[in-house]
Amino acid sequence: MRGFFNGIVFTLASIAGAGAIAIFTGALPPGADNKPPAIEEAAANASLHATIARESHGMTNPVANTDENLIAGIKTYGANCAVCHGASDAKASTLAKGFYIESPMLAKDGVEEDPDGSVFWKLKHGIRFSAMPAFGANLSDDELWKVALFLKHMDKLPPAADAEWKKLPSVASDVAAAH
Ligand code: HEC
Repeated sequence: MRGFFNGIVFTLASIAGAGAIAIFTGALPPGADNKPPAIEEAAANASLHATIARESHGMTNPVANTDENLIAGIKTYGANCAVCHGASDAKASTLAKGFYIESPMLAKDGVEEDPDGSVFWKLKHGIRFSAMPAFGANLSDDELWKVALFLKHMDKLPPAADAEWKKLPSVASDVAAAH
């Protein structure tokens, strides 16, 4: 039995030692221009999904699907999100092209199929180890639900909201470069 415990202690110490060596020698590359290792991505995704499933289960959007609410969501999106997630042309900004974890261009790779609560959770709490900020610190739940409403209906907006969406200026890197 004693040998067994010594074995466990030795194994844990070896893992910690290898981790420390990796960190202090720079074997874990710190630049954002590296690709995340599969194990890091798998661990971060598993933790995110488990937390969201627990904390947002059954949540539904309390905001009514009206032009007014969709347009409010689009305006909040334009001010806070387009720089990383693109406008209706789905073209990435210079900023978005440099992230360690790629930010999806939502006009192309949207979240229309995702449960309301899951999208709301991501907006409110952000996504650790990525550039996705926690907006709960600065935007109200009501504002965030309106953005979630817009994201849900992005591919089938009624005309007034669609016109507002198409009006958001492109953030494409070539547009930025031209200034
Ligand atoms: C500074 C950059 C940045 C800003 C600003 C930002 N995001 Fe993100 N967002 C990201 C990144 C990077 C990811 C990808 C994270 C990941 O995959 O783990 C992400 C992920 C997401 C996701 C999940 C996408 C999916 O496929 O599951 C949603 C939804 C989202 N963001 C919405 C928003 C909204 C809405 C706003 C504005 C209120 C916003 N983001 C602002 C960088 C940003």
